[in-house]
Amino acid sequence: MKQYLKKKFTVKALIYLGIVMGLIIISYGIYWANTQIQLKKLQQTVAEYKNQNWPYLNSTLPLEQRVQDLLSRMTQAEKIGQLALVEKNSVHNLTDVITYGLGGILSGSGAKPEPNTPEAWLSMVTAFDTASRNSRLGIPVLYGVDANHGHSNVPGATLFPHFIGLGATHDADLVFRVAQATAAETAASGIFWNFSPMLDVVQDPRWGRTYESFGSNTKSVSQLGEAYIKGLQNSSSTNITVLGTVKHYLGVGAMVWGSSTNKNFFIDQGTTTIDEMTLRTVHLPPFQAAINSGAMSVMVGLNSWQGQKMAASHYLITDVLKNELAFKGFVVSDWYGVYEIDSNKYRSTITAINAGVDMVMLPFDYKSFITDVGSAIRNDDISQTRLDDAVSRILRVKFKLGLFDHPIKQNLSQAIIGSKAHRDIAREAVRKSLVILKNNNHLLPLSKEANRIIVAGAVADNLGRQAGGWTVEWQGIDGNWIDGTTILNGIRQAVSPTTTVEYSQAGNFDHATSRADIGIAIVGEKPYAEGWGDNPHPALTDEDLTTIQNVKQASKKLVVIIVSGRPLDIKPYAHDWDAVIAAWLPGSEGNGVSDVLFGDYPFTGKLPIAWKIK
Ligand code: BGC
Repeated sequence: MKQYLKKKFTVKALIYLGIVMGLIIISYGIYWANTQIQLKKLQQTVAEYKNQNWPYLNSTLPLEQRVQDLLSRMTQAEKIGQLALVEKNSVHNLTDVITYGLGGILSGSGAKPEPNTPEAWLSMVTAFDTASRNSRLGIPVLYGVDANHGHSNVPGATLFPHFIGLGATHDADLVFRVAQATAAETAASGIFWNFSPMLDVVQDPRWGRTYESFGSNTKSVSQLGEAYIKGLQNSSSTNITVLGTVKHYLGVGAMVWGSSTNKNFFIDQGTTTIDEMTLRTVHLPPFQAAINSGAMSVMVGLNSWQGQKMAASHYLITDVLKNELAFKGFVVSDWYGVYEIDSNKYRSTITAINAGVDMVMLPFDYKSFITDVGSAIRNDDISQTRLDDAVSRILRVKFKLGLFDHPIKQNLSQAIIGSKAHRDIAREAVRKSLVILKNNNHLLPLSKEANRIIVAGAVADNLGRQAGGWTVEWQGIDGNWIDGTTILNGIRQAVSPTTTVEYSQAGNFDHATSRADIGIAIVGEKPYAEGWGDNPHPALTDEDLTTIQNVKQASKKLVVIIVSGRPLDIKPYAHDWDAVIAAWLPGSEGNGVSDVLFGDYPFTGKLPIAWKIK
C-alpha cells in the first residue's frame, strides 16, 4: 500500500513538474516571439526624415528656425508624446518610444540595468535612443538620471562629496571641476541629462534632503550652483555637454515641519509658508543665477505655496520663471508631482500644463496621459499655442544639446568612469570640505609619527556609509563593495611606517596597561534619501556614543569625526572630546580625510549651515 502511494505521489510530482516546465518554456517562447516582433517592427518603421533635406536637420541653420521647421512637420500625436517623461521600467515595449514619440525617459534612483555596469547602461540607453531615431521624424529621446554626487548609480564611478560638503568648500572652481567630471562619467554611459544641481536653500536641517543642498546661504548656493551648471554644460575643455536641471523650484528649502502631504514623511513634500518677499530674496536668486549661466531645464518641486501645489502655480512658473526671468528652456515636473495637484488625473494634467509645466515626469502610465492631453486640446482645455510652446521648449533644448546632429557619442571612453583624474578631484573636494568644529590645544593636525593610533566607529571602514543616499540605490548602501578608499584605509596609508594603527569597529581596545596616543572615532548617520531622512532630532546613536566612550577610555586624546548629511546635536557630549571634525558625506575618497587630519593640507572648510556644539 505504502509502495503504491509512494509511486502515485511520484507520478503526480512528475506531472506537476512537467506542467511547470511547460509553462516556463511557453512563457519564454512568448517573450522571445514578442521581442522578435518588436525588433521587426523597429526595422520596418519608416524614418521619413532619413535622406531628406529638411531644414531642421541642417546644423548650420539658426536654432529657432530648426525648432519651428520641425514643429511644423509634427502631427498632434508627435507633439503630445514629447511632453511625456517616463520611468524606464514602465516602458514595456521599446516600440512605444516610436509609437508614442516619448520625449524623455529616466532611471528613477536605483532603476539600473542588469548587470549594473557602464557597458550595460550604455547599451540600455542606446536602445532607447536608437528607437527614437527610428521614428518618422527621428526626434531623439532625452535620457535622464540623478547623478547628484557623481554618476552614483554605477558601482565604480567616482563618488564626490554630497553637495553639503561641496558647500563647505566654498570653492566655485572646484565645484565646476566636480560637475565636469560628473558630466564626463555620465556621458560615457550614454546619458546626457542630469537632474542636478539642487539649489534649495535649506532652512531646517531636520529635512532629509539637507545634504543634497549647498547649504543655507543664498549667495553661496547661487555661486556654487552657477559653477555646477557651467561644469555640466559648458565644458569646453572636455567637449561634453550634459544637460543640468536646477531644482526644486521654488522655496522647497523652506517647507515647514509637520506639513508633509506624504504620510511617511514630516517635512519633505510639505508646505512652504514664507511670504513672497522671502521667497524672492532667499530662494529665487540661485535659480536666477543658474538661468543666467545657461540652465536649460528647471524642475518644479513637490511642495505647496499659498495653498497651491507648485506644479499648479501659473504665477511662479509662467509669470515669474518664464516671463520675468526670461527662462527659455523647459520646465519639468517632479516624480508623480502633477498627479498630486488634484484627485482627478485629467484636471491635474490640464492645470499643470496650463501653469507652464512643459515635460511631465509621469513617471508611469504614459498612455492615459497622452489620451488626456489629446482630449484636453480637443476640448480646448489646453490651447494649441500652449502645446506648441511646450514642445518648442523641449525641442530647443534637444537641439542645443546637439542630440539631432550626432547619435549618442559611442566613442567616449568608459575608462573615464572612476578614473584616477576624477578621484583626485574628489579627494581634493573631500579635503576642502572638512570643517573643524572643535580643536582643543591645537590637537589637529595630528602627528603622523604617533606610536599607536586606535580607530573605531561604524563609519570608519564603510564606503556605503561614507557615500550616503543616492548611491547605487535610492536609499544608499552598506559596506565596502563599491570602489574607493575608506577613511580607515586613508589613515593607514597616511601615517609613518613606525606607527601602529589598530581598528575595532565597536572600540574594544585593551587599555589595561597603556592608552593609545590618539583615538579616532568615526561615527554618524546611516544613509537615507528624501523624506525617509526627515528626522525630528538628528543626533548620534547610543551605539555611536558607546563607541566614542570606549575610544576615549583607551586613548590619551580623542578625535571624533562625524560623517553625516547635516549638523547633529552633539551639545551634551562634545565638551568631553578633544577635537571634532564635520566630514559630511565625503563619498568614495576617504583619503581626503587623512590628507588634512595629518596636516598634508590645511583645514579650509567652513560651515555651509549653522552647527552649534555648545
Ligand atoms: C526627486 C527628484 C528626482 C526625481 C527623479 C524625485 O523623487 O524629488 O529630486 O530628480 O525623483 O529621480
